[in-house]
Amino acid sequence: MRTVPRGARLVLASHNQGKLREIAELMEPLGVEVVSAGALGLPEPEEGEESFAANARIKALSAATASGLPALSDDSGFCVSALGGAPGVVSALWAGPGKDFRPAMERVRREMGDSTDTRAWFVCVLCLAWPDGHAECFEGRVEGHVAWPPRGQNGHGYDPMFVPEGGALTYGEMDQGEKHATSHRARAFAKLVAACFPR
Ligand code: IMP
Repeated sequence: MRTVPRGARLVLASHNQGKLREIAELMEPLGVEVVSAGALGLPEPEEGEESFAANARIKALSAATASGLPALSDDSGFCVSALGGAPGVVSALWAGPGKDFRPAMERVRREMGDSTDTRAWFVCVLCLAWPDGHAECFEGRVEGHVAWPPRGQNGHGYDPMFVPEGGALTYGEMDQGEKHATSHRARAFAKLVAACFPR
């Protein structure tokens, strides 16, 4: 396991503003300097879409080799039991080129049809890669159920239609701190920190 020293410079290998905001917030206590792939002018690589881990690895390695810095990527998605785990790895694609999640959420609801199975979960794989090709991946998951109609203006993506297990509010109704208490991203992040950012 390779570790990242305090004061190191690290690239956040994502062009998704919602993820960038959440990851930057989670990283704040770690004492590293973060710069986004967009700010460095790095291109967004093609994802293979075969698994969260494979996609996360592609994104982190591409940013690490292009920048010469360690790079952290996030590949994540919304999975619905009644849809056999879809949209899953293609969650972003369901929002189309305009990245509009209202029609994506409507599509999830429409495809669920009359199913009484409302179980859903988010998955996040964080991958930390170095310019020499070394990479470590960590997975986090949160179980819950689909809420309809969507509720709340906070968060991003499918947040307004997901209620985590044991709660009543959607992620769209929670503030960021409340979401971090259960989220797939925060859970993957805790594993990453334990392994790569010992402090
Ligand atoms: P990708 O990892 O870039 O392929 O995109 C993941 C997509 O999954 C995002 O664009 C969102 O649609 C969805 N997603 C991942 N994490 C979250 C989350 O925390 N809240 C809501 N939607 C999410």
